[in-house]
Amino acid sequence: MRSHYSGLVTEAQVGQEVTLVGWVNRRRDLGGVVFLDLRDREGIVQVVYDPDLPEVFEVASSLRNEFCVQVKGLVRARPDSQVNKNMTTGGIEVLGKELTILNKAAPLPIDFNTDVSEEQRLKYRYLDLRRPEMTERMLFRSKVTSEVRRFMDDAGFLDVETPILTKATPEGARDYLVPSRTHKGEFFALPQSPQIFKQLLMMSGMDKYYQIVKCFRDEDLRADRQPEFTQIDIETSFMSAEQVMATTESMIRTLFKKMLDVDLPEFPHMTYADAMRRFGSDKPDLRNPLELVDVADILKDVEFKVFNGPANDPEGRVATLRIPGGASLSRKQIDDYTKFVGIYGAKGLAWVKVNEAGKGIEGVQSPVAKFLSDDIINAIVERNGAEAGDIILFGADSYNVVTDAMGALRLKAGEDFGLTVDEWKPLWVVDFPMFEKADGRFHALHHPFTAPRNMTPAELEANPGTAISDAYDMVLNGVELGGGSVRIHDQEMQATAFRILGISDEEAQLKFGFLLEALRYGAPPHAGLAFGLDRLVMLMTGASSIRDVMAFPKTTTAACPLTDAPSPANPEVLAELAIDLAKQESSNDGE
Ligand code: AMO
Ligand code: AMP
Repeated sequence: MRSHYSGLVTEAQVGQEVTLVGWVNRRRDLGGVVFLDLRDREGIVQVVYDPDLPEVFEVASSLRNEFCVQVKGLVRARPDSQVNKNMTTGGIEVLGKELTILNKAAPLPIDFNTDVSEEQRLKYRYLDLRRPEMTERMLFRSKVTSEVRRFMDDAGFLDVETPILTKATPEGARDYLVPSRTHKGEFFALPQSPQIFKQLLMMSGMDKYYQIVKCFRDEDLRADRQPEFTQIDIETSFMSAEQVMATTESMIRTLFKKMLDVDLPEFPHMTYADAMRRFGSDKPDLRNPLELVDVADILKDVEFKVFNGPANDPEGRVATLRIPGGASLSRKQIDDYTKFVGIYGAKGLAWVKVNEAGKGIEGVQSPVAKFLSDDIINAIVERNGAEAGDIILFGADSYNVVTDAMGALRLKAGEDFGLTVDEWKPLWVVDFPMFEKADGRFHALHHPFTAPRNMTPAELEANPGTAISDAYDMVLNGVELGGGSVRIHDQEMQATAFRILGISDEEAQLKFGFLLEALRYGAPPHAGLAFGLDRLVMLMTGASSIRDVMAFPKTTTAACPLTDAPSPANPEVLAELAIDLAKQESSNDGE
């Protein structure tokens, strides 16, 4: 039906007859001539109909936006004065000779020129995706996946599919369950990731595996989280953490070069402890130059309880954030920052405005100066490298509250003061603790299959709280792009890790008995990583949410306005599955 894509007709086709198909982006009637902007996946071309051919002209005059049409015509160069440098096809136009309406379009239910809500956009996603901005993102995403495949194929990775109807994988979210008809009362879980299967593939001797694969997690959604999302999932045998990092970093570098012609800078390796201490985050945004500075040692002996309490508590933290030029903040702005840190549990936000460094109390303005001595003020100003015109903000509380609150404030202040630079800032975060303690029990920071660094099972059992794992996260501009680890390939170590996590031997057998057994038959050392493809494409295209780089995403309440999923099931189907719905007061209290 076509000889060329509309958006790809260029000067090279001048003098040729072309056949194009697409949608009417816009029709203008100007001085007895009809101009038609014809749009397809690849872009827009201008078609001109003049009254010399009255029948065709009449059809052209009847076109409405979004009619689907076929155009035959002659490509000609535009006069110099009419060249549109902003369009790929701006140097030419098509003189229309024939015109067929393939399908009319009713007036669209939404007007994309006015502010359309995301709910509406998702309900009419097929129309939303016609917008060039969205179409371009889909094309870009498709090129990214084909480049990923090329890279992985060239590097010797096998693409192996893993089941979607499976058993729970512990990645920290709730599972999506699927009832079994043939095993009444039993359920499949959709995979939170192919983690266990890719490990089993290593035990099968596949050596290098990758898959571009859907994962499912029932968790609270945000701009960079969806209930179903796509991973570039990777696993290798006989490679160290460093080798996995080098290979996957090379893949990301290649993508940025090929897709954006960007040479990414060196990826620094930063320990988790340093990331939390300096940036208050395990995914530090290094485009922002601000850093947290610890001052507990300076404040141990002050009279002020807000400071000396956490300063003397091994689980407390007192950290400062210097904002250059921040002395210009008004009371109201400081109050707003105080409210902002309150979201993270901070009970206040003490501050010191610096008028002159090294002058003690006289050189500063601060509601807490009265609790501090000249020497202490000078020491804090000096450690922060503060100068006249700066403000120093204080967080004093438990380690977690201060780290979260001041880390979030760092990002906010970086934006507010225009300090965040427009560059690519990747890094590796390494040396994660194996476990974190919450509600009196240990949880895996990565997942329960992650190996500790240089420890025997007995050593791990004796010191789970201080064990460091062989895990790594790739972070780009404050977004966790991917994460992985060296895996446990020893049955005793795996059983120990489960025990520390409070998974009894019995429960471990029930949930992961097949993995524990597989570890007995010559499992190779193995390691891997998974990237969030949606997040990667979001960053590369400058989109503000992963929803904008997914064809059919869900809303933030995990629903699909287009298909109206999820929806009630037919009673016969439920009966066949032996499912009896509990009576619910309202449809929302399913928790
Ligand atoms: P992890 O849980 O860190 O690791 O996930 C890997 C990457 O997947 C992306 N991601 C998400 N993207 C969108 N929506 C979500 N809900 C979502 N959750 C995660 C992130 C994240 O870095 N099996 C391990 C990997 C491994 O150890 O090899 C895993 O899934 O970009
Ligand atoms: P108060 O003694 O509560 O009047 O607080 C005096 C100053 O200390 C105010 O500027 C508060 O915002 C600040 N402040 C109170 N609690 C904290 C805290 N936990 N961390 C940092 N600053 C605080």
